[in-house]
Amino acid sequence: KILILDFGSQVTQLIARRIREAHVYCEVHPCDVSSDWVREFAADGHLKGIVLSGSHASVYEVDDKAPDAVYELGIPVLGICYGMQTMAQQLGGKVEGSHTREFGYAEVRARGHTALLKDIADFTTPEGHGMLKVWMSHGDKVTELPPGFKLMASTDSCPIAGMADEARRFYAVQFHPEVTHTVQGRALLDRFVLEICGTSPDWVMRDHIAEAVEKIREQVGDEEVILGLSGGVDSSVAAALIHRAIGEQLTCVFVDHGLLRLNEGDMVMEMFAGKLHAKVVRVDAAELFLGELAGVSDPEQKRKIIGRLFVDVFKAEAAKLTSSGASTKGAKWLAQGTIYPDVIESGGAKSKKAVTIKSHHNVGGLPEQLGLKLLEPLRDLFKDEVRELGVALGLPHDMVYRHPFPGPGLGVRILGEVKKDYADLLRRADAIFIEELRSTIEPHSGKSWYDLTSQAFTVFLPVKSVGVMGDGRTYDYVVALRAVQTSDFMTADWAELPYSLLKRVSSRIINEVRGINRVTYDVSSKPPATIEWE
Ligand code: XMP
Repeated sequence: KILILDFGSQVTQLIARRIREAHVYCEVHPCDVSSDWVREFAADGHLKGIVLSGSHASVYEVDDKAPDAVYELGIPVLGICYGMQTMAQQLGGKVEGSHTREFGYAEVRARGHTALLKDIADFTTPEGHGMLKVWMSHGDKVTELPPGFKLMASTDSCPIAGMADEARRFYAVQFHPEVTHTVQGRALLDRFVLEICGTSPDWVMRDHIAEAVEKIREQVGDEEVILGLSGGVDSSVAAALIHRAIGEQLTCVFVDHGLLRLNEGDMVMEMFAGKLHAKVVRVDAAELFLGELAGVSDPEQKRKIIGRLFVDVFKAEAAKLTSSGASTKGAKWLAQGTIYPDVIESGGAKSKKAVTIKSHHNVGGLPEQLGLKLLEPLRDLFKDEVRELGVALGLPHDMVYRHPFPGPGLGVRILGEVKKDYADLLRRADAIFIEELRSTIEPHSGKSWYDLTSQAFTVFLPVKSVGVMGDGRTYDYVVALRAVQTSDFMTADWAELPYSLLKRVSSRIINEVRGINRVTYDVSSKPPATIEWE
């Protein structure tokens, strides 16, 4: 196993991710653990290497150091950015502050004589120097090598951009190998963990399940847990994982606000209550939600109403589950499917000392209000890892690789006032669109158009247009199809779906959904449009 000591960089979890991708087990712990703790961690003989992460701070702002034991165990150590500076400082070198920050792309001359960088380069200069294209982000820099170290990499502005003491197998780089902008970053980290540390690449997601299960059991003991199940990827995977760990001690609360997709509620119940035999309370609150939404057409107001009602309903249900009764001791934990990007987004990853937790948009602030402890078993994982975990837990591929669905559901896909009739029409039209996307394969990639798009859905327009059907005139509603491709949902392009696919969807919707006589395709990119219409 590899130990990553976290000095508070935004990207520490990326180091863990890269190491997991090399199929090596690793754990991230705060940098202020004691030397005794490190020795204890290494006592089973499985600790093969240590990585010191970067930090958001300067060595002059904070006095975080690696525990001395890190350098005394006789195992390889890799310092990254701040990790390199603290290594230099602790081992007798010098670090100086600098007025200029180096931030972004840089080309680093790699000294290929070290085991870490041997034969790793992006290109060679005419003089024969191996060069690396890297990502830098630092103000301070090492200005004097510690005794025993030699220069491993340099740039004009940062003459000591890498250093190594090969006798002790201590390596350090000023740039960030964990980010993808550093082209050879993966090769470098693989080299460190697999060859220099000598770990074996045998860790798989299945092992993560065993570790996570163990951790959940340890955390909650014999206490009970409530989880808000939405049917989305994160809460579903969290539910399946926690259920695997503690079975009957978990109760899922599934609030059906009446704004879900066709058969979605039944599918969630079938999967969790039916197949997994988990305890799931389904709260049918459609009438309540639709009642409160009547007459409201402003998108933000609709969102607020849906958010507030969701919390009210969930709280009322949770209150029942937290009070002790004949068969229950009362839940003490609220589980959430918070994943690592949520943690970064909230700024929670910036400081190991003050971790703020992103309140899930649906159940924000609830743990405190309900007096519950928070259980977040997916906190360290990235979205694609959560999906991989879901598959390993036996969740169906279609559920795990679903497009995102907004918390307010169809509430923001029915423009203006939300009505049950509109929702029913939209559900049927949308199901046809998604069914066709799933069943139409793009020949070059062999993938379905559902998998080739990041998000696709139908929007209900409460306007009527004239049409002709058979011998008669129709005067019915219009829907818009929306399909986008994006990697981060911050910007998005409309998907160039084949005309034949659009044609089939349109004709099926108009023929099968009485009440809709016109289908349009949204050809707006984000920006300036947004993905959703409200
Ligand atoms: P926009 O429309 O802002 O959407 O381009 C970007 C992504 O966010 C989702 N979205 C929401 N998700 N509650 C949510 O949970 C919301 O109120 C909400 N509004 C937009 C949208 O589906 C897309 O994935």
